[in-house]
Parts: sequence; structure tokens; C-alpha cells
Amino acid sequence: MTWQAHVLTLFPGMFPGPLGESLAGRALAGGIWSLSAHDIRAAASGRHRSVDDTPFGGGPGMVMRADVVDAAIAAAGAPHLPFLCLSPRGMRLDQARARALAEGPGVVLLCGRYEGIDQRVLDARGIEEISIGDYVLSGGELAAMVLLDAAVRLLPGVMGAADSAAEESFSGKLLEYPHYTRPAEWQGRRVPEVLLSGNHGAIARWRRDAALELTRRRRPDLLRSPLATEAAAANDCMTEKRP
Ligand code: ADE
Repeated sequence: MTWQAHVLTLFPGMFPGPLGESLAGRALAGGIWSLSAHDIRAAASGRHRSVDDTPFGGGPGMVMRADVVDAAIAAAGAPHLPFLCLSPRGMRLDQARARALAEGPGVVLLCGRYEGIDQRVLDARGIEEISIGDYVLSGGELAAMVLLDAAVRLLPGVMGAADSAAEESFSGKLLEYPHYTRPAEWQGRRVPEVLLSGNHGAIARWRRDAALELTRRRRPDLLRSPLATEAAAANDCMTEKRP
């Protein structure tokens, strides 16, 4: 079954954008997933097809209208799929959520622009907001692409079989250890000798220690989770597997 992504946006021309290239692009062309970008403006009525208005109570910027957004959601016609609205106010996207979405039938993503979306449509439809990080983008579109990329690469058949199996144990509990390839010496810098030793036990221990040290320095917050202790023992890292 094709994993279905629907994106509701004022800028459908932004899609597939980078998702049409590389790993996600090949999977899209291969029918592993499908992408429909729905133009929110098509759901607006009136001569000007206006999608936004000034905020009640005053303040800067414009707010996307509840009636227009609601009609756009209805027109997308995918009520069976999980629905998320990209917003810096949401809970943070993480690897576990990306995996949960990849294990489902797909997702519908609503991209906000302007100052935000009229709260009433979010309340009426019980829409969950999700953020990709603590910074503010000019709209949800790039965030939607980030979310889709994180989910699509986990779909069966997108990465090589070996990598996807390995991915199961890599749950983002530790940062990944450093990688090296030929030449063994470059500009006077040698690859850590243990990696040339052929001693798989020693290599695994070196990688675990390097991952732990990196995590301790850069993301000590990750080590406070009980999963991190397990990960350290199992040598699991946040990894970026490629096909
Ligand atoms: N829209 C604007 N900023 C965002 C963020 N950080 N995450 C998700 N959607 C956004």
C-alpha cells in the first residue's frame, strides 16, 4: 500500500521541492509514497479568494480564516489519515513520532502562514500542532518537508534492507559516533588506529565510547533518559543511514 501524504498549503508549488530528489524522490517515483499538495486558496470564496484577515484584538500580521481552512481540509478528502498542523507552538517532532507516522497509512499536514490559524478551526477539528524545533520559520511548508523526509526514509523499501533492519535499533538515544573512510591519513590526520585493527569487539567499544562522549558534550539532556543508559550498553546511536 502506498503511504499517502497530503499537504494543505498556500504555496503548493513548493512541493515536492527537495522531496523530489534523492532518497525520498526515488521512493516517490517508485510509488512507495504519494504526495498531493492542496492549494488552500482553492477553498476560499469571493472575488478576492481571501484566505486571511486581521486579528481580533489587534496586533501585527494576519490570521488564516477558520472557514477557509476548514473547507480546505474537507476538500482534501483524507479523513482516515492522521492530521497534523505544523506550528512552532506544537510538541517537538522526534524520531519516535516519525517512526509511528511511517508505520501508519500516511499523514495530512496543514501548513500555516502569516501569524497563525484561527484557533476555532484547530479546536473544532481537534487538530494537533507539531513543531520541528524552537525557532520560527516563515511558514509550515519547510517544516512539513522535514517531517515527510523523516517519515518517508523509514518506509519499507526506501533504504536498503540491511539499513532498515539496523534502523530499528537506532532510536536516537545517543548521538552517532564519528565516521572515517580512505585515505587512512589525510593532511597529517590519521584515522583512529582501532578502526584499522579488524578487531570488531574493540571497534564496537570505541564507537560506543565516542558516541557517549559526544552525547555528553553536546546533548547531556539525552543521557538523562533511561533509554540512553540502555543505548550505551547496546551501542545504539542516532544514526544517519544512507542507501
Ligand atoms: N512554522 C513556523 N515555524 C515552525 C516550526 N519551528 N515548526 C513547525 N512549523 C513551523
